[in-house]
Amino acid sequence: MSSIDSTQPIVAEEVGLLYDRLTQLDTEEAGGSLHLGYWDLDDDTTPLVEAADRLTDMMTDRLRITGGQRLLDVGCGLGQPAMRIAQRVGAHVSGVSISEGQIARARKLAAAQGLSDMVEFHHADAMRLPFDDESFDAAIAIESVFHMPDREQVFREIHRVLRPGGRLVLTDFFERGPIPADKQTAVNRLLRDFIMTLADPGDYVSMLARAGLRFVELLDITEQSVRQTFSQMARDGERDLDPIFEEETDSKFSPADMIDVDEFGSLLLVARKPA
Ligand SMILES: C[S@@+](CC[C@H](N)C(=O)[O-])C[C@H]1O[C@@H](n2cnc3c(N)ncnc32)[C@H](O)[C@@H]1O
Repeated sequence: MSSIDSTQPIVAEEVGLLYDRLTQLDTEEAGGSLHLGYWDLDDDTTPLVEAADRLTDMMTDRLRITGGQRLLDVGCGLGQPAMRIAQRVGAHVSGVSISEGQIARARKLAAAQGLSDMVEFHHADAMRLPFDDESFDAAIAIESVFHMPDREQVFREIHRVLRPGGRLVLTDFFERGPIPADKQTAVNRLLRDFIMTLADPGDYVSMLARAGLRFVELLDITEQSVRQTFSQMARDGERDLDPIFEEETDSKFSPADMIDVDEFGSLLLVARKPA
């Protein structure tokens, strides 16, 4: 039996405060994506920052949106994916984040890049989206739903704000296989320190259906994303994250401890609202 703590109760506001603290640690120039990279080949040594944009592009291509359409970015981080999509596709992107600090930073970065008329950022909880019914052509959620108290409620909200036929593309983390006893501490530290739960991939299709969405595609992208990302993070030396964790513990998450955890999976999922 697994002793992975994937059911810890999550309080959205605590996630917001965690990201507020992380945002304060960033330097002014840091405006990057906060998600895994994507590498097709084992010998591809593309730096994480570029490989992360590649994952954004892969997901964007699956949204099937065109210039002038409206995209919702659920859990938008510092706005890098939203700004990239606005520039690449010409879509209008509305991002939401539970972190006030991220929203302030994202607005500043968008203004600096002259993109304020293409992207807008809102401090809001994805469990209660501040948008009208059927107001978006598509939605994207890059590595954000694992922080949310109830995935199904988030999918109900996304279903509500999508127009009929609109697509949702997301990435999420899941337990790909039973996590061996000697690797469970590393995974539990990651889940605890970053306030996350792992998805049950077996339940995804029915969870989407209960929220009114139809399953389209599910890809296991673990091999192309997880190991390289943690290796590069460990090699490049993480910033000292200590100040962001309120609890003083001597056992904190470390990317190096996650490199060999092949059972920690990443999935890419596409769903759509029936037309
Ligand atoms: C790992 S970051 C990913 C950020 C961004 N999608 C990216 O790829 O750069 C997770 C994001 O989810 C947001 N988030 C977590 N829980 C949320 C909630 N309940 N409502 C809105 N945003 C939330 C966080 O504030 C953060 O922006």
